[in-house]
Amino acid sequence: PTPIIIDCDPGHDDAIAILLALAHPEQLEIRGITTVGGNQILDKITDNALKVLSFVNADIPVAKGAAAPLLGKLVTGEQAHGESGMDGPALPASRFKPVEQGAVEFMLEIIRSSEEKITLVPTAPLTNIALLITAYPEVKEKIEKISLMGGGLAYGNVTTTAEFNIYVDPEAARIVFESGIPIVMSGLDVTDKAAIFEEEILELKSRGPVSVMVGELLDFYSIYGKKMGYVGSALHDPCAIAWLLHPELFESEHLYVTVETEGKLTRGMTVADRRKKPEHPANTEVLLGVDREAFMKLLFDSLDRLDRE
Ligand code: BDR
Ligand code: CA
Repeated sequence: PTPIIIDCDPGHDDAIAILLALAHPEQLEIRGITTVGGNQILDKITDNALKVLSFVNADIPVAKGAAAPLLGKLVTGEQAHGESGMDGPALPASRFKPVEQGAVEFMLEIIRSSEEKITLVPTAPLTNIALLITAYPEVKEKIEKISLMGGGLAYGNVTTTAEFNIYVDPEAARIVFESGIPIVMSGLDVTDKAAIFEEEILELKSRGPVSVMVGELLDFYSIYGKKMGYVGSALHDPCAIAWLLHPELFESEHLYVTVETEGKLTRGMTVADRRKKPEHPANTEVLLGVDREAFMKLLFDSLDRLDRE
């Protein structure tokens, strides 16, 4: 299996991404989970990660990372994710605790001690990853790739041009995109197409306990989506895992992408060079399309697997 570290801020869709990965131990070996302030403050989202793991009995080490972006104050996603950062299902308290180490030292140790290269899966602001590769640039060589959820070539969701994960910490995102590590970007171009519809959420809620819990997460999560004019609920973060499991479900383009950190209208925008003769070689595989039906089947089958455990 591919060894991965998931760097997240659960977050409804982060929780679903974790579950999707957990359902495929023969393909993905989760070496650890790190958390970062994003959808809610660090303590809340760390607790959410532990609750999700506890719910499915997965004793995976969780390390707390950065509480705030590299510069300035944290902007949370409370409007979408609620006061807890993962409102909806009444999950029992977690039986697990975070490890003592902070996220950067924790990732460093996993990467250094591993014989194989590690794949990073960030589904949150990129603060932890930027801190890691800035403090220990030598680890870049031992990172296979970064499959991240963030950005969007066509539009944003916090501002017209910026997507939440990049908007929260554009400086960190720029460091990551310009690091030279191969990136696979699940941005809004693809994640908005990976939307789940109301009748599918109803179907989930007629199944086993993990599917029901995910259905309850999505009930809450779709309230904000509807308010913002969306029909389905975009499964943003699960795309970053689904690509690792089934890249053939996605359409993509290889492009040079970096992040605007200054623009008045464009701070936090992922900017791709789509000219015929780009100035730099491609650093990112940008996912642009997905077979939605196959993606949903993957999700349903994966949750079914967890239900039967
Ligand atoms: C991203 O922002 C967060 O609210 C979600 O968890 C996802 O990672 C979508 O823009
Ligand atoms: Ca997230």
